[in-house]
Amino acid sequence: MANDYIVKDISLADYGRKELNIAETEMPGLMALREEYGDSKPLNGARIVGSLHMTIQTAVLIETLVALGADVRWASCNIFSTQDHAAAAIAAGGTPVFAIKGQSLEEHWDYLDKSFMFEDGPNMILDDGGDATLYVLMGARAEAGEDIIPVPTSEEEAVIKEQIKKRMEASPGWFTRMRDQIKGVSEETTTGVHRLYDLVKQGQLPFPAINVNDSVTKSKFDNKYGCKESLVDGIRRATDTMMAGKVAVVMGYGDVGKGSAASLRGAGARVKVTEVDPICALQAAMDGFEVVLLEDVVDSADIFITTTGNKDVIRIEHMREMKDMAIVGNIGHFDNEIQVAALKNHKWTNIKEQVDMIEMPNGNRLILLSEGRLLNLGNATGHPSFVMSASFTNQVLAQIELWTKGDEYKNDVYILPKHLDEKVARLHLGRIGVKLTQLDKDQAAYIGVAPEGPFKPEHYRY
Ligand code: NAI
Repeated sequence: MANDYIVKDISLADYGRKELNIAETEMPGLMALREEYGDSKPLNGARIVGSLHMTIQTAVLIETLVALGADVRWASCNIFSTQDHAAAAIAAGGTPVFAIKGQSLEEHWDYLDKSFMFEDGPNMILDDGGDATLYVLMGARAEAGEDIIPVPTSEEEAVIKEQIKKRMEASPGWFTRMRDQIKGVSEETTTGVHRLYDLVKQGQLPFPAINVNDSVTKSKFDNKYGCKESLVDGIRRATDTMMAGKVAVVMGYGDVGKGSAASLRGAGARVKVTEVDPICALQAAMDGFEVVLLEDVVDSADIFITTTGNKDVIRIEHMREMKDMAIVGNIGHFDNEIQVAALKNHKWTNIKEQVDMIEMPNGNRLILLSEGRLLNLGNATGHPSFVMSASFTNQVLAQIELWTKGDEYKNDVYILPKHLDEKVARLHLGRIGVKLTQLDKDQAAYIGVAPEGPFKPEHYRY
């Protein structure tokens, strides 16, 4: 089909291609998979619908899936995260993509719908945050006259319902057919993985899923070291504020929180942390951060960042107490960590794309980043290629596993085996000059492992 894409400006394709070429030099895991599987093409016959931030790094992922034989259609999983030159390069290369930086919520769900429109529909999902999976399952439930799955905000729920209604009217029975032909889903992030485990608990997951997030080479690298680079990048590009000396509060000290706190500390901010989990709170304290209640620091801190994957973490009563020109942002998956909806009736002044100044009733102004959506992708370009290579190498291995051996799996959530996790890490050592010590047989026997690995038991936590 001619022009089977929606991008901001197809003439950005050359620029996108140049950045893609650079990214490839930083994504050794994906390039090694092209080398290993380029001839055997294990993804032949797979029709993958992808819902994941349409960045330069994702473009290298898409081209890897295609090199391995897959047919691919793509949408972004966030309205602000697309890099328009990356989308243009992918579209110009012949893979349908539907993504524009700054698309509306209505367009977001319409573009997701369009990414499902293979001639015979998709048979695989590659998801980030669960929107593609949610779309099929909600639609199938609606066709069966059942309640839909709750979504983060009521505004978004209304938009999704409208989109589902449109598709049901245009193609009766479509969602149920799609659900029944999907062989599996690989899920990128913590929040999407929570949704999958919830579906299993309710007996509602209709196909096997691989939890890519909990590969060690994903969450302990992308969520942590990725945010360590991209959080401050986002704040700087948005505000050019001096970070050194400022007081920053990081809410949540999981993997993303650890990277975010390190990011701000690295920039010279004085960082405080809030937590609900005593283990993570103790970790934060022993990493040298003061662990506080938001209420106790809300009127004195300069920068507030949510990293929890939870909802209503910064509430309207907190924002009313903040200092003039406090910076408020979120790096968790959804925008409901901050009660942005409660600010809607205040005076907003748009400073530039994805940066707004909001006047509070007491006259203090807040700088809100990306309307509360993940700011490292909204205000900057997300994580660097190298760390995304590790994440996406897991994604490709998960797709191969589900496509070639999906029948051996139950409708449950699985994690890739440790030898593949170690393989992903191994593929990234050369690029940064890491020399690995080789265990001899005696030593290996002494610690109870094979000389070639896996090197740790399943319960080891890294
Ligand atoms: P995690 O589960 O490791 O960490 C979240 C932490 O927040 C936990 O330690 C939890 O105890 C804490 N928490 C929960 N409610 C809280 C509250 N009310 N106040 C303070 N702390 C609270 O999850 P992870 O992997 O760190 O992911 C967090 C979010 O970031 C998820 O939504 C995930 O999808 C997203 N994510 C975003 C990325 C990005 O590039 N922007 C990259 C990777 C993940």
